[in-house]
Amino acid sequence: MRIDIISAVPDLLESPFQHSIMKRAQQKGLFEVIIHNLRDYGIGRHKQIDDYQFGGGAGMVMKIEPIANCINDLKAQRSYDEVIYLTPDGKKFDQPMANRLSMLSSIILLCGHYKGVDERVREHFVTLEVSIGDFVLSGGELAAAVMVDAIGRLIPGVLGDETSALFDSFQDNLLAPPVYTRPEEYNGWRIPEILKSGHDGKISEWRYEESIKRTQARRPDMLKD
Ligand code: ADE
Repeated sequence: MRIDIISAVPDLLESPFQHSIMKRAQQKGLFEVIIHNLRDYGIGRHKQIDDYQFGGGAGMVMKIEPIANCINDLKAQRSYDEVIYLTPDGKKFDQPMANRLSMLSSIILLCGHYKGVDERVREHFVTLEVSIGDFVLSGGELAAAVMVDAIGRLIPGVLGDETSALFDSFQDNLLAPPVYTRPEEYNGWRIPEILKSGHDGKISEWRYEESIKRTQARRPDMLKD
């Protein structure tokens, strides 16, 4: 899978994909993240990418030409399954959306800034608008990093143990059960005995029950249907 990110602040995206799982996935050639500096497509001597709002009002708006030129450049090289704009008024990002996007071959993530992008970008270039939650970030970059991480780990082969993403919280509409490691006892606090029984069937059953209990206690909305 290939993910192209268009950003006015590419430095913000330098680190998130250079470590651990995301780094290894790229080294293995399982997915590619390419960051494009919108400023390179800026207009005129000052490489302008934003401008005042028509009709007045505080805050700058990202211009259409630099974004259009960047997206058109990318589209001339390959086709894209989705052009996604990160915005607090988009569709809420969740595990089913991450699953669906992880099966695509190429997507563009467009990060907004200031007051957002000229509406014509949304009308004519963007195919999907996504929010990572009901709060406002100062730009789409951190939201894009969250999406890439959640999507990337679902691509087959990215996680060492192929099955481990299947047991994530949300993957089957349940929260993940508690986990323990050594020592067996710390400060008088013992791990549940069942986990040492060696009985795989009973352990799976225990984990499933704990998942249900945890989901009931913390996220009863997930059990509604
Ligand atoms: N840009 C600013 N806030 C955002 C959010 N919550 N989700 C996605 N992009 C954003």
